[in-house]
Amino acid sequence: MSHEKIETNIGLMAILIVLVISVGGLVEIVPLFFLKDTTQPVAGLKPYTAVQLEGRDVYIREGCYGCHSQMIRPFRAETERYGHYSVAGEFVYDHPFQWGSKRTGPDLARVGGRYSDEWHRVHLINPRDVVPESNMPGYPWLEEKKIDGSKTATKMKAMRTLGVPYSDADIAGAKGAVSGKTEMDALIAYLQVMGTSIKARR
Ligand code: HEC
Repeated sequence: MSHEKIETNIGLMAILIVLVISVGGLVEIVPLFFLKDTTQPVAGLKPYTAVQLEGRDVYIREGCYGCHSQMIRPFRAETERYGHYSVAGEFVYDHPFQWGSKRTGPDLARVGGRYSDEWHRVHLINPRDVVPESNMPGYPWLEEKKIDGSKTATKMKAMRTLGVPYSDADIAGAKGAVSGKTEMDALIAYLQVMGTSIKARR
């Protein structure tokens, strides 16, 4: 019997198991690369400006993702609190995306425009000045450090190889755009654009 041949030959069985699992995996994963919903930017999505991109790097460096997700799930409790649920097309220019899953603090996917720049500045220096019960750490040093613009253009070029449509002019102007900006300015610029390509229902 052919089945006996497989069951008594561990090498052959291993190869066949790998084959079966690969087919199952490919059938689920490959279509995602071709679905427009997951690969096309939503209407109105703009690449991060030089300042916002640097702010995003500050966000990553400071580990904000350790307490904040950027992924609103399609449940009533989430959309009532945060606004429209997140869709894949909002994140096609995010490399790497910051979805996260840990929510010590609230989800930030649609925090853009919710507060003033000044609120963010005070909050980031010492969260307890605006939210007395907050256990978020303060980041006062962001106010003192200037963005190092020497690598901004290179970062944007790297993003372009990943499909972010930066023009030559965007890249040429990168250094000038971030000059004089503090890390705080850049981080706030990033926070303020977050999730704004879909008008939030609040
Ligand atoms: C130790 C966990 C922790 C870390 C790390 C952290 N946060 Fe928070 N964050 C919180 C908590 C808790 C709140 C809710 C209380 C408050 O508003 O301060 C919050 C609130 C916020 C809010 C207000 C959100 C809203 O909708 O009201 C923003 C914006 C924010 N954090 C940004 C950041 C940024 C940017 C960083 C990184 C520089 C960061 N957080 C790091 C815990 C954290």
